[in-house]
Amino acid sequence: MNDSIVTLKITRFDPSLDGEPYVTEHDVPWKECLTVLQALQYVNEHYDPVSFDYSCRGGLCGRCGCMVDGTPRLACYTVLEPGEHTLEPLAAFPVVRDLTVDKSGFTRKLDDSVVAVMSQADMATSPEISYELYWNVLDRLQKCRECGNCVSICPVYAENTAGYAGPAVFSQIFLRTSDGLDEADRVLQAVESGVMACQLCGKCDSVCPVGINHIDAHGQLQQKARERGLAEKAGALVEAI
Ligand code: SF4
Ligand code: SF4
Ligand code: FES
Repeated sequence: MNDSIVTLKITRFDPSLDGEPYVTEHDVPWKECLTVLQALQYVNEHYDPVSFDYSCRGGLCGRCGCMVDGTPRLACYTVLEPGEHTLEPLAAFPVVRDLTVDKSGFTRKLDDSVVAVMSQADMATSPEISYELYWNVLDRLQKCRECGNCVSICPVYAENTAGYAGPAVFSQIFLRTSDGLDEADRVLQAVESGVMACQLCGKCDSVCPVGINHIDAHGQLQQKARERGLAEKAGALVEAI
């Protein structure tokens, strides 16, 4: 292995031209802390143009996700070692071209699901949120980048994209349960969104760039649903999913 070279095997596909995806291979000079995004920019400047999405280059916008060696990662936040690496479009999303995918359906679903349903109560009477709850749980939840990494690796989402809203949505619904002024029945909403089908496998946790603890959030929603006797409703939904 040449330890000064990164060889990228990039899956290419233009739905308007190509019958099947194909792979192109490009050598990129390695340097310490070379990110996937920098390597892609090198390919763009020195070889064929490759289509990919990005904006902030700093892990904030969530736009640069792709499969790096089979795992969903943010391209701007993933450092490459010398050797061969595969780059594919983020799984679970329609391909626009090469590594660019259409996340509009996902972000719409995510945004719609967490719209606050506010009560008329005085803000001052809203229950206080403890320091520990805010910094240990809520702060991470509200930093969701809408990158889609979690849904790309979720085995249940891969089987049931229509009826299973997926980890990002469940965790944002859970975030709303701590809002004392929100009047929606978030546990019922989570059940109707398919949370009881979550296997609590933790794969979504392993690829979330902001470290959201989905297992804890989904587990708490499932527990609250069981306590309220929503398991039967959930069972019917899970079968239908
Ligand atoms: S914990 Fe649940 S939501 Fe996350 S990857 Fe596993 S099944 Fe999917
Ligand atoms: S929960 Fe994490 S992995 Fe999923 S969309 Fe939000 S930031 Fe990305
Ligand atoms: S470019 Fe914004 S998160 Fe990577």
